Amino acid sequence: MAKTRTKYVCSECGAESAQFFGKCPACKSWGTLIEELVAPAATDGTRMVATAARRKGAQPQPQSALTLAQITDTHLQRFSSGYAELDRVLGSGIVPGSLVLVGGDPGIGKSTLLLQMMNNLAQRYRVLYVCAEESGHQVKLRAQRLSVASGASMNGTSIKGTSMKGTSMKGTSINDASGNDASRESEASPKPSPRSSQLDAGIEKADLYLLPETDLDLIVQELDTLQPQVAVIDSIQAIYLPTLTSAPGSVAQVRECTAALMRMAKRDHITLFIVGHVTKEGAIAGPKVLEHLVDTVLYFEGDRFASHRLLRSVKNRFGATHEVGVFEMSDRGLEEVLNPSALFLGDREDAAPGTATIVACEGTRPIVVELQALASPTSYASPRRSTTGVEYNRFLQILAVLEKRLGIPLSKLDAYVSSTGGLNVGEPAADLGVAIAVAASFRDRQVDPFTVIIGEVGLGGQVRSVSQLELRLKEAAKLGFKRAIIPKGQVLPDLGLELIPVGRVADAIVAALPTHSRTAEPESPHKAP
Ligand code: TYD
Ligand code: MG
Repeated sequence: MAKTRTKYVCSECGAESAQFFGKCPACKSWGTLIEELVAPAATDGTRMVATAARRKGAQPQPQSALTLAQITDTHLQRFSSGYAELDRVLGSGIVPGSLVLVGGDPGIGKSTLLLQMMNNLAQRYRVLYVCAEESGHQVKLRAQRLSVASGASMNGTSIKGTSMKGTSMKGTSINDASGNDASRESEASPKPSPRSSQLDAGIEKADLYLLPETDLDLIVQELDTLQPQVAVIDSIQAIYLPTLTSAPGSVAQVRECTAALMRMAKRDHITLFIVGHVTKEGAIAGPKVLEHLVDTVLYFEGDRFASHRLLRSVKNRFGATHEVGVFEMSDRGLEEVLNPSALFLGDREDAAPGTATIVACEGTRPIVVELQALASPTSYASPRRSTTGVEYNRFLQILAVLEKRLGIPLSKLDAYVSSTGGLNVGEPAADLGVAIAVAASFRDRQVDPFTVIIGEVGLGGQVRSVSQLELRLKEAAKLGFKRAIIPKGQVLPDLGLELIPVGRVADAIVAALPTHSRTAEPESPHKAP
């Protein structure tokens, strides 16, 4: 019987079809179908995703249904990654047996983050780091540099400590990366004690096991032997299933590998972190094609020129999404930023004219951010507008409101706005801060550095209410701000801040730039300074 030898996979959505189409039948994108070879079916008719269990001849056991009460909760206790910021994004800790995808641009710090996390975890659990992109020596070098840095949480025990049991296994402990090749030939040592008892015991001085391997069958075999509580696969684009003929990193490989790892994670209760590079669309498949497969999707993002990194949760079966964790990349690895507002707050004392402070919300987390605006006479026929961290079209809209409702002649001025550190403050609650920063720059006046400004600006020049106002105000109060300009009509408890409710942008400007009282009335054009 002639079997289909090739199939076509959409690089956008991963849909498969037996014949070629110019337009993907599933997601309607053009020119995205890529030919891939289909692996021949196994002789026994099963799918050729080999697991170690199957190779050993063990038949998969049928599961019988259980009631909720029958399911014991020994495996349900979350445990800490050693980083409060990472725990927050995961939904207060790591869920045992979950599969977490960590996506991000190449070079953003995914490997660094996970290596640091594994180094923390290695002090309590048996953990395996599959470094498909680097050799064991390179990872050790990296880990040593990181371990010097972070003091208590990253003390060197797992690197300099005594050699652990299990160095004869294929997964080499970090103390013994050089023994890898020799050990590959040797017999695997007996299975270590069951993980559950270690979980209960809490502390087991273990070491970080490294496995420089790209063949998924061998990785699965090693997971099976070592039975770690936590494993990292760095990265999914570098590993491959030999039974599939397409190249590592192709949609088919990335999906099949993830699915095989998912089965492994659920069956053996191993927590897996999978690294996926965000890539340009094309032959190489990025984390997007995996999002539906995994439990949790985290994206690690940041500006190439800024040191801060945001870890964002975009899917989480075990917690809230849109949480962020903030890290800072130093020359000794990633450090968590427990008080991100301090990072995005400029120098309070010598704030230049055109500076306004807002409280942005990342998920449920308020972050105080400084905005700077500059309005200066243009030398072009049409004035320039540019934004960093603020949405461009919203900025244009706010400029139009300032011009039309407050008579600020901005059509003859170039206007720029940026947030400190380039933090993305795309939300409407930043509008009023942007408006006041522009007005302050135009009038060359300083906003009181201890005032925060929160509100959405409507096209009619009104100030609209915002979500999570109380949370934002609490954060400002905590950081020592004295006053807050807020939308009118929201009932709030006493937060230790002087509240200035405003109904219109014009009132907000009067309140923020008090020495300039009367000229800020609506429809009363004033002179440039
Ligand atoms: P890496 O974790 O390798 O990125 P990814 O795995 O996401 O591709 O991080 C590499 C970048 O991080 C590299 O460009 C340099 C920077 N970096 C530091 O600034 N300090 C450090 O201590 C480390 C380890 C990396
Ligand atoms: Mg990496």
